[in-house]
Amino acid sequence: MTVQTRIEAALSRAIAQGQAGSVPAKLASALDYAVTPGGARIRPTILMNVALACGDDAPQMADTAAAALELIHCASLVHDDMPCFDDAEIRRGKRSVHRAYSEPLALLTGDSLIVMAFDILARAGHSDPARALGLIRILSARTGMPGGICAGQGWESETSVDLSAYHQAKTGALFIAATQMGALAAGQDPEPWEELGARIGEAFQVADDLRDALYDEATLGKPAGQDDLHARPNAVTLLGVDGAVERLKNILAGAIASIPSCPGEAELAGMVRKTAERLTPMTPAKAPRSTIPGE
Ligand code: IPE
Ligand code: IPE
Ligand code: MG
Ligand code: MG
Repeated sequence: MTVQTRIEAALSRAIAQGQAGSVPAKLASALDYAVTPGGARIRPTILMNVALACGDDAPQMADTAAAALELIHCASLVHDDMPCFDDAEIRRGKRSVHRAYSEPLALLTGDSLIVMAFDILARAGHSDPARALGLIRILSARTGMPGGICAGQGWESETSVDLSAYHQAKTGALFIAATQMGALAAGQDPEPWEELGARIGEAFQVADDLRDALYDEATLGKPAGQDDLHARPNAVTLLGVDGAVERLKNILAGAIASIPSCPGEAELAGMVRKTAERLTPMTPAKAPRSTIPGE
């Protein structure tokens, strides 16, 4: 079974669990709408590849960890699109959850997915309590306060922003969770895997800044030009397009060098290289907005 098939199957099982029994139909439907079809599934893919590189001795634990991580990511997108945050109409090429269902249902969808993520990890504790507990600890640290997505989103309500803490918590946190959970799901010490996750997360943020500046809404499947619109500090404003591309390459080279020694080290380096190719914007759909004459 491919990594992609394993991820989708684990997500389907989790969603089906949340829809079982006598449940409010619209909320049940919104759970599925928020999770499938997915985006790039980059975080669970990294998690699975790290687990495989570490021997993947408990595949069900890795599957559950990957699903839990993606559920948290999907929840963060549902909440992020709501009018109280970015007020985005589209996500992954279709209407955002609050547009398709309503604001109360979007709030509840995000909440339900977050709880579901921890619930499936807790259930996995029957087979290996120690690993499941460790996975819950990593994921909760990277989701809440002080170092998780909540902290990252919280920075947007401050007048003075610590840019590196903001990026690290908003974007980097789930990439660190990806590498560390992948290692722990396969029974390895997660600690040495933090650096790889942090570096991939940093690269992802630069790539996201480039895509936001260079691509249009149709290409992205979500609103473009958001960094300019919300006057957010970003790599393109700081370094220019060429500078940001160069920075992306340097970070990814560092990421490959930071892979801890493990049986599947070479394959994992290949995966990071492939991720790098996918992240690096190819031919820009248009010039960066900030340099379009007359804008
Ligand atoms: C978007 O993440 C949110 C950010 C942290 C910038 P992705 O680009 O991974 O979104 P999907 O899952 O592929 O839609
Ligand atoms: C996305 O952040 C959601 C979180 C990381 C919580 P952004 O607002 O920067 O990303 P997009 O552009 O909506 O995907
Ligand atoms: Mg946002
Ligand atoms: Mg947003």
